[in-house]
Amino acid sequence: MKGKQHPANDVTLNPSGNESIRDVLDRIDDSRRTFIKTGVSAGALTAFGGVTAVGIVETVEAAPVPPAGGFAGIGFESVPPSLAPVADRVDVPAGYKVEVLAAWGDPITPTGPAWAEDASQDAAAQEQQFGMHTDGMHYFPFPVAGGSGLSNERGILCVNNEYTHEAILHADGLDATTGIATSTLSIQKIRKSQAAHGVSVMEVRRTGGKWGVRANSAFGRRITANTPVSLSGPAAGHPLMQTVKYDIRPTGSLANGTSDGRQGNGTVNNCAHGFTPWGTYLTCEENWNGYFGATASPFTPTKLERRYGVSANGFGYKWHVLDDRFDVRKNPNEPNNFGWVVEIDPFNPRSTPVKRTAMGRFKHESAQVAVGPDNAVGFYMGDDERNEYIYKFVCAKPWNPRNRAANMNLLDEGVLYVARFSSTPVPGKTNTFRGEWIALEPGTVGLDGKPLRENPEFAAATDAEVKALILIKTRMAADAVGATMMDRPEWTALRTYSFGGRAATGYSYGPGMPLEVYCTLTNNSRRGNTPASSNNPNGSTGAASANPPVDPANPRPDNDYGHIIRWREDGNTVRALAFEWDLFVQCGDKATAKTLGSSYNAAGHDGYVGNINGDDFGAPDGLWFDHFGRMWIQTDQAGDGSGDWRNIGSNSMLCADPNTKQIRRFLTSPPNCEVTGVVSTPDGRTVFCGIQHPGEDSTAANPAQFSNWPQIQFATNSAGQVLPNTPGKRRPRSTVLVITREDGGIVGGL
Ligand code: FEO
Ligand code: CA
Ligand code: CA
Ligand code: CA
Repeated sequence: MKGKQHPANDVTLNPSGNESIRDVLDRIDDSRRTFIKTGVSAGALTAFGGVTAVGIVETVEAAPVPPAGGFAGIGFESVPPSLAPVADRVDVPAGYKVEVLAAWGDPITPTGPAWAEDASQDAAAQEQQFGMHTDGMHYFPFPVAGGSGLSNERGILCVNNEYTHEAILHADGLDATTGIATSTLSIQKIRKSQAAHGVSVMEVRRTGGKWGVRANSAFGRRITANTPVSLSGPAAGHPLMQTVKYDIRPTGSLANGTSDGRQGNGTVNNCAHGFTPWGTYLTCEENWNGYFGATASPFTPTKLERRYGVSANGFGYKWHVLDDRFDVRKNPNEPNNFGWVVEIDPFNPRSTPVKRTAMGRFKHESAQVAVGPDNAVGFYMGDDERNEYIYKFVCAKPWNPRNRAANMNLLDEGVLYVARFSSTPVPGKTNTFRGEWIALEPGTVGLDGKPLRENPEFAAATDAEVKALILIKTRMAADAVGATMMDRPEWTALRTYSFGGRAATGYSYGPGMPLEVYCTLTNNSRRGNTPASSNNPNGSTGAASANPPVDPANPRPDNDYGHIIRWREDGNTVRALAFEWDLFVQCGDKATAKTLGSSYNAAGHDGYVGNINGDDFGAPDGLWFDHFGRMWIQTDQAGDGSGDWRNIGSNSMLCADPNTKQIRRFLTSPPNCEVTGVVSTPDGRTVFCGIQHPGEDSTAANPAQFSNWPQIQFATNSAGQVLPNTPGKRRPRSTVLVITREDGGIVGGL
C-alpha cells in the first residue's frame, strides 16, 4: 500500500524486483500509525489508578519486582558484581543467553573484508567494517504485515563508533595516551583512525533463530570522519561555518578553496544518539574538540576555542599534524562544523548526513525525542562536561505521521531551550522542586539585564544572524542566561508505560502517564570545591574549569558516583516552559569507608554511600526505557574494580523500577570497558547492548594486556561464524551483543 501523499521521487534501492524504498517507507508510516492507534489512550489509563509509588519493595534480589503503575515488573535475579580481578567475560542472569552480534572490524557492507586480527588492514578496509568503540544505537525495524507491523527479526541497526584506541588500531601501534611520536605517525594511520570513527549502519536479521549482520545488504554503510555531510538550519552558511575546503585523499588533504558553510566532511566522537518518529537516526558529536590541534606555536586559544576546550594538542590523536583540515590555525573554522546533532536516513544509503544546527552546538551526549498528542516534537539533550547544561529543542512544526518526506527538515526550525533547576518546592510533594526552560533566542534577557541580541558575543545586523551566533556559541548563550551547571549530563531517556503487560508506547501523556524525562549525571570532581566559582555569564570560562557550589539539583560535593535526575513537563507537553523535578537516585557504595577531602564542604552530605534501593553502582551514563516501563542504566567508571569501585566491581547494566526505585544488576562486563548502547526489537524479546573498549589503555606492545574479550568468552558469533583467537595476534574488540531469554520471553520481564 502506498500513501497518497507520498512523493514519487525516491530511488529504487534494489533493481532486483524487491520493493522500492518508497514502498518500505510507506509501510513504515502506515504501520507506525497503526501502532500509535493501538496504544492505550490517556483516558483509559486513569482507570489503572495512575502512577503512584506502590511502596518500597524489600530488597530481595531473587524475588520478582511486581508490575504496578505502568511498570511491567522485573523477573530476573540479580547477577553478582564482578569484583577485582575482573573476569574477562560478560555475565547475565540465569535463563538468559548472550551472544556476539558484531565486533570492531566485522564487514558490514557487500565489499567489506573479514577482520584481520593483526590490525594490518588499512583505511579502505575499515571504511567497510564495523567501526571501533561502539556507543549509542537504535534498531529500525523493517515493516511486516500483522501485529504491530514492525519486524522483530529484521531491521537496520545504526550504531555509533565513538572513538579509537590507537595503540591497538594499528598493527605496529600508536600510543595516543602517552602521546603519538610524530616519527611513527603517518597519513595512512590517520586515515584508518578517521575511518574507525563515526557510525556503522548495518542490516541485522534473525534467520533460523540466529541473529546476524547481513554484510551483503544494500543498507550496510559506514559514515566516518571524512564522509561528506551537509550543514542546515539557522547557523548553516554563516561566515564562522565557512572553512577551508579540502580534497580528502588517502595521501593527504589538499586545500581547494573555501566552503560555503553548508557542506562539510565527517562526524567524530559519536557518543549517544537519538531517533525521530519519522524513522531517522540521530548521532551526537561529543568530545570533538580533542581531534583538533595546532602545529603553530605558541598557541593562544580564542575565547570560543577556550569555552569548548580546543587546545594545541587535543587528545593526542595528532590528526592535525598531517591533516591540515584539523589544524585550527590553518583552518580556524573547522571546529565550528562539529559539536552538532547529525541526522541520518538509514533507509536511504545514498543520503547525505545532515548536521542540524538548530539543535545547538556543544558536547552532545544524546537526543531523546518525545512527541505530544498534538504531534509536537521535542528533544532532550545533555552537554557532557563538568558544569555544563541540559537542553531541549522543540520543533516549530508538528510531525506529520502520514507523510514522511514532510518531516525531513523538521529539525531545521524551532527553539532551543536550556534548563534552570530552581530550589522552589512543589507544594504537597516531598523533595520536588520547580524548574524552567529558558529560550536561547535573540530577545531573551540575560543576567546582564539585556537581550542576547545586545550581548557583544551575539550582536549582529539581523536577528537571523544573532540566532546563528547563539547556536554556534550555545554554551556561551547558556552562560549568559544563567542556566544551571550540572554534574556532567550524559543520556536522557523518556519514560514509557505498560499496562496489563501491554506496551503503551503511543505518544499520549496525561494523568497517570506523565511526560517524564530522566538524565544521568555521571560525576563531577569539581563540585563543592573551594574556592567556589561559576561559569562566567560573559562566556569566558574555560571548558570544565568552574568550581560551582552544591545546589539542590547537584547536591553532592566531589560527586564521584553521580546521580539521576528526572523532570515532568507542565501540562504533559514538550512545549512546556516549566517543569517539576526530583532526584531519582544518588548512586554510591553502601559499604564504602571513603570520606570527603578537606577541600569539600561535607555539611549535609551522605559521603559516598548513596541511596540506592537495591544493587550499588556509580557513574551512570547510558539510559533507556524499554517498551514496558523498565529503565535500564549503563555505567562508565574505571573498569577494573579498583579503588572507589572495589565493592561495585566492573561496569554494569542495571534495571530500575521508576515507581519504587528498586534497581537490580542485569549484566557485568569484562575489564576496562564501558557498557554503553542498548535498544530492543519492538517485542522486547531481543536486546542489543554495547561493550565499548574492553581492555582499554593496553599498550601497543601488548594489546591483550587487560582483556582478550570477546573471543576469550565466545567461540562464535550469534550467526555461528568462528571468532578468531590466534595466540600472538590477540586484541580486544568493542562489541554489540545480542541478549535473549532462553524461554523466548521479554528481556527483563516476569
Ligand atoms: Fe561519550 Fe559522555 O560519554
Ligand atoms: Ca556516554
Ligand atoms: Ca561517560
Ligand atoms: Ca568511555
